[in-house]
Amino acid sequence: MRSTFLPFAPPFLRDEEVEAVTEVLRSGWLSRGPRTQEFERAFAEHVGSPAALGLNSCTAGLHLSLVVLGIGPGDEVICPTMTFAATVNVVEHVGATPVLVDVCPDTLCIDPEAVEAAITPRTRAVMVVHYGGHPADMGALQDIGRRHGVQIVEDAAHAFPAKVGGEMVGASGRPTSFSFYATKNLTTGEGGMLTGDAETIERARALSLHGIVGDAWDRHSDNGRWSYRVAAPGFKYNMTDVQAALGLVQLGRLDEMQRRRREVARFYREHLGDEPAVLLPVEKEGVESSWHLFPIRLTDVARERCPPPPDAHRTPDLGPMGAVRDRFIDELRRRNIGTSVHYIPVHLHPYYRERYALEPGMFPVAQDAFQRLVSLPIHPGLTDEDLHDVVEAVRGALRP
Ligand SMILES: Cc1ncc(COP(=O)(O)O)c(C=O)c1O
Repeated sequence: MRSTFLPFAPPFLRDEEVEAVTEVLRSGWLSRGPRTQEFERAFAEHVGSPAALGLNSCTAGLHLSLVVLGIGPGDEVICPTMTFAATVNVVEHVGATPVLVDVCPDTLCIDPEAVEAAITPRTRAVMVVHYGGHPADMGALQDIGRRHGVQIVEDAAHAFPAKVGGEMVGASGRPTSFSFYATKNLTTGEGGMLTGDAETIERARALSLHGIVGDAWDRHSDNGRWSYRVAAPGFKYNMTDVQAALGLVQLGRLDEMQRRRREVARFYREHLGDEPAVLLPVEKEGVESSWHLFPIRLTDVARERCPPPPDAHRTPDLGPMGAVRDRFIDELRRRNIGTSVHYIPVHLHPYYRERYALEPGMFPVAQDAFQRLVSLPIHPGLTDEDLHDVVEAVRGALRP
């Protein structure tokens, strides 16, 4: 058994990042400035987007997307229940009503049929989450959007870099938000990027800095003016040059980092593909996953082999399968392997459950998946030895 703990998703940083950040610290300019502009240009070019806006989080990008689209009280926004709460919280922030729907059994991305069934005359947008970095069924979702006059807003927190039909997620011109949180494929510690058409990005840019029009950052530089104008009550959502310096270095070696992620995914497939106690994540024809996560699901074989004790319900809303999963996670931890669970579906969180009278049975796919899901470590820092340790621990923990 492994003697040291293998963390689930540590950031992959080298001296280059330290030097780039130090340079900014020494430059006398810490907030939004030239590095952020450079990062925005480089990111937009990388994904093929007309424009990009550096932000302090993906959540900020999602919120700004809804504000710019003019979504507010009386409007409904359809969201998958299998996501991080941020996707849905921003709908509440603009005063609209989130309408949760179930996900596809294979990808755990929003189910287009469930979206179509949930559309009402009040539906204004669909929040599409590319779960784990696997793109959602954009063809079907775009078609629904067109037919019903409904906007598509992409939560691409996990999906950099990912492709749909050869095109990068973020290239579509639709508002698309990326996360650079510490565990993401590219990190700036905390941070995010919003891509979209030039007009959306310009409106979001003003809103991201108090609603000040023009590129407000340079009013403190030697060629800036003291004067500024607030055109709307905006937010404080801007990225800083410290974050952008980190992001630029990470972008420069994205290919190297992604190569390793794909190798890790391939290794797990090769070494766990014959294990009937687990179901592995898919990569469907025509798309390229970012492999941000490697979420496996325990099957009924795991339950037969390792039945839960009768009083094993530790987490509310978890059935016997959830107890098997929880014990599996404990077993992996005992074997020094860090894991996580993505996600506790939104309909199970007390706020949403109570406010919208939601029941676990309303979302059978997400509810069932939640009880079986475990995300295995996947990041560029994993060595071959680490991967053998994970596989050995998974197989060992599933032995009766
Ligand atoms: C699906 C999803 N959406 C949105 C977010 C929010 O990202 P951020 O922390 O950058 O605001 C996360 C964070 O992990 C996420 O997983």
